[in-house]
Amino acid sequence: MRRLRGAAWSRNLVAETSLSVRDLIWPVFLIEGECCCQDVPSMPGVARFSLDRLVDAVGEAKDLGIHAVALFPCIDPALKSPDGREAINPENLMCRAIRALKAAHPDVGLFCDVALDPYNSDGHDGIVRDGLIVNDETVEMLVRQSVVQAEAGADVIAPSDMMDGRIGTIRDGLEAAGHTNVQIMSYGPKYASAYYGPFRDAVGSGGALKGDKKTYQMDPANTDEALREVAMDLEEGADSIMVKPGLPYLDILRRVHETFSVPTLVYQVSGEYAMIKAAAANGWLDNDKAILESLLAFKRAGACGIFTYAAVEVAHLLKDA
Ligand code: PBG
Repeated sequence: MRRLRGAAWSRNLVAETSLSVRDLIWPVFLIEGECCCQDVPSMPGVARFSLDRLVDAVGEAKDLGIHAVALFPCIDPALKSPDGREAINPENLMCRAIRALKAAHPDVGLFCDVALDPYNSDGHDGIVRDGLIVNDETVEMLVRQSVVQAEAGADVIAPSDMMDGRIGTIRDGLEAAGHTNVQIMSYGPKYASAYYGPFRDAVGSGGALKGDKKTYQMDPANTDEALREVAMDLEEGADSIMVKPGLPYLDILRRVHETFSVPTLVYQVSGEYAMIKAAAANGWLDNDKAILESLLAFKRAGACGIFTYAAVEVAHLLKDA
């Protein structure tokens, strides 16, 4: 075995997988204002951008070869309500961001999150009634949210809410509104995870969150259930599937990819990113090597696309390599 590992050219020839800038999707956070770039304390190197800065930042990312971004709004808390109705306002921060990006960078793919948590005063992904997250009424809101985002120019609708039956209902809603070419990427197996903590700070839903999300997100103990989720989402019309979180759930990624042979993406979530950054800041891990290795692991497990907050720094690293 060591003969093949002896020289870099040989290691490169026998490498079974590789990481490319084309695999990367860059998640970005949005805020109101002009010329604003606000650091997210629990995510070193990550900022919330006002729309003018967003357009510039995505332009720079595009020059490095990143051709897809995912958008997450951090809205004015005064606009949050129990039913999250700001989510369906065609002039909300998200829709304005989509229009600004499509106008400036029409060739950059836009993944648009669909869920109520940035807009809901309880911090939940759905409408809360008597302490319960109501399924079907939430789905109706998600359809309207999907349609306003598609109208604004979204390329991929990405429901992250984990309500039952939403993929099929959203597909019908998109078709009825004439958006037949808009893709749906289902956050199919999405686990109720501690690793989302820094993200909730970034979109300002963490402080608001009452209770937890265990009645709709998946139990980390389960793996067969992930396959049932994915089977239903595909049946209902999902074009691709995303597994989330990433590194602690590589087994799920591998199983989904092998079972269904559909485009399977993965999200290196905020807590995974924060862990690497914290260890690197303490001098306990080599930042660049740890990040590249974590992303290569996703490719090895079968991912065709990777959401990572490190996309821009990784694009620089791949360019220099
Ligand atoms: C919520 C949503 C979450 C993430 C993406 N969409 C958090 C949650 O479910 O509470 C997490 C992403 C991350 O941690 O980076 N709809």
